[in-house]
Amino acid sequence: MNPEERSELVRSAISSREKAYAPYSHYTVGAALLSESGGLYQGVNVENAAYPNGLCAERVALFSAVAAGERKFCGMAVVTRDGGFPCGACRQALAEFSPSLEILIADGSGKIRWEGSLSELLPHIFSADSLKDSRSRPVAPAQLGD
Ligand code: THU
Repeated sequence: MNPEERSELVRSAISSREKAYAPYSHYTVGAALLSESGGLYQGVNVENAAYPNGLCAERVALFSAVAAGERKFCGMAVVTRDGGFPCGACRQALAEFSPSLEILIADGSGKIRWEGSLSELLPHIFSADSLKDSRSRPVAPAQLGD
């Protein structure tokens, strides 16, 4: 990403964070994802009284982008009060589409606390390749138990 794209991504994550719904943890997260086609997708964490039903900001941004037809991404900015890192589940979800995605981790003021590639955060991903020749493909009911 060029410097303009990076700044825009961080600005977008800062503004999306204002819409986070985090009444339980009070830990608000804003994410912004830039697609290779130039689309910008925002995400926030959305919590729920039934705690496990909540979703992280990174996956909200990713799934929104995929729902809009995007498949390839160049960068993501994540903003929290203290420059927190994406959780493991979000790393794996992002790696499905862009394993070498550029990641910018910023604090509430927009200061970059860490930057690097998704592959540094999640080396040795579990990918579609791992499922080649695997019995985990869908099989017809008659084949179950083979
Ligand atoms: N959270 C995210 O949105 N992204 C992460 O990668 C880590 C955690 C959210 C989930 C929950 O709403 C709050 O932060 C505290 O865990």
